Amino acid sequence: MNPLESIDHILSTARSVRRKLDFERPIPDPVLLDCIDIATQAPSGLSESWRFVIVRDDDRKADIASLYRTALEELVRARGLDVKPTQNALTDRLHEMPALVFVCAEDVPDLTEIPQQVAFYGSVLPAAWSLMLALRAREIGTTWTSLLMARHAEVSRLLELPEGALPLVMLPVAYTKGARLRRAERLPSREVTYFDRWGMTRSAEE
Ligand SMILES: Cc1cc2nc3c(=O)[nH]c(=O)nc-3n(C[C@H](O)[C@H](O)[C@H](O)COP(=O)(O)O)c2cc1C
Repeated sequence: MNPLESIDHILSTARSVRRKLDFERPIPDPVLLDCIDIATQAPSGLSESWRFVIVRDDDRKADIASLYRTALEELVRARGLDVKPTQNALTDRLHEMPALVFVCAEDVPDLTEIPQQVAFYGSVLPAAWSLMLALRAREIGTTWTSLLMARHAEVSRLLELPEGALPLVMLPVAYTKGARLRRAERLPSREVTYFDRWGMTRSAEE
């Protein structure tokens, strides 16, 4: 694969990995820190409000896993959904992950206006996605999870976050073991892209 093909491959196969993970294989701190150095190259309209918390301590992981299960059960009950087997696979083994990486924001302002919300979260979340890609490139599987935001006060207490900080995304990480990551089914660009004005699509012949 040439560099362009490699990048396209990583970008289009950064799937959620909840199964086929190697819970025994450690992920050294320098590997995760290298990924975070790449992640923080993401655009930021603010003065780097992102902060990362890597949780390895067994007791903390167990507490987080238990909160995650509660949040999932509450969501499923509230929306009348069925829990998918893959979601159970993640929930059941969350505490066994070599690490849980939280992408946090510090100094979250009082965000009532949509433009401010877009500017604030848009300056932190791209780093979380870049982190996923950097992990994917190293054969480390993860899933973008924000379910725990429903319990952010408890998570903040567990992780000892300062006042005004929020744990926005949790990426459970483990090396993949035999996972075959493919492109997802998504609408083609021509169906979701308009030209010059909303609703103006172009057919393949144009
Ligand atoms: C904002 C956001 C929050 C999400 N939160 C969770 C979550 O808490 N738990 C979970 O299992 N999946 C969560 N997902 C879904 C997965 O990350 C993933 O996108 C989904 O399972 C589709 O899989 P794919 O990305 O491989 O196509 C979330 C996705 C997004 C975009």
